[in-house]
Amino acid sequence: MVIIAPSILSADFTRLGEEIQAVERAGAQWIHIDVMDGHFVPNITIGPVVVENIRKKTKLFLDCHLMIEHPEKYIEAFAHAGADLITIHRESVRDPKSVINHIKKAGCKAGIAINPEISFETIRSIIPLVDLVLIMSVHPGFSGQKFIPEVVPKIKEASEVIQKTHKQIYLQVDGGITAENAGIVKKNGADVLVAASFIFKSTSYETAIHQLKTSL
Ligand code: DX5
Ligand code: ZN
Repeated sequence: MVIIAPSILSADFTRLGEEIQAVERAGAQWIHIDVMDGHFVPNITIGPVVVENIRKKTKLFLDCHLMIEHPEKYIEAFAHAGADLITIHRESVRDPKSVINHIKKAGCKAGIAINPEISFETIRSIIPLVDLVLIMSVHPGFSGQKFIPEVVPKIKEASEVIQKTHKQIYLQVDGGITAENAGIVKKNGADVLVAASFIFKSTSYETAIHQLKTSL
């Protein structure tokens, strides 16, 4: 069964606790938290203090997507705040293996992400070390962008490599996910779908999440 991870980037931040509880009631299994620093991406969002407060409001799995430079400096802070999984970008570190080990030592699951223009080759050798692979389907920085269909073959390639490891490694896709493209993304092997605007801008979170789970 596919996991739906609503990204709070499109939630009403003045009512963040209620918004998270609403998507939880609507069938979301994870909460996706987009952390941006204004350097790695041209936008600034939230830090560990917000994660700590979210942790008090939900028992859902907290999936922290770090779009920041020097992510290694902030691993402990996010782990202590209550992150269950920390994903770093391949493009943001010189030595991904050491940062992945660092995340695991801090007690969290570890993910590796690549932007749309980055080839799967850049992460192939580290797949057996991670708990999640994130294929970005927009250029990170903002919610509400259009899905880039050219990443679909990369999702398939990642899925094939993950299967060969015989390990439980999630394959996540993030950016522009809607009921129209969820089917093709799932068909190519994705098992965690992130969606911000499709869920939080909808009139019914329950319907939106159900559509993402069931669309073919
Ligand atoms: C993009 C973020 C995404 C984003 C998704 O930089 O990593 O998680 O919030 O937003 P939608 O689903 O609206 O494309
Ligand atoms: Zn994200």
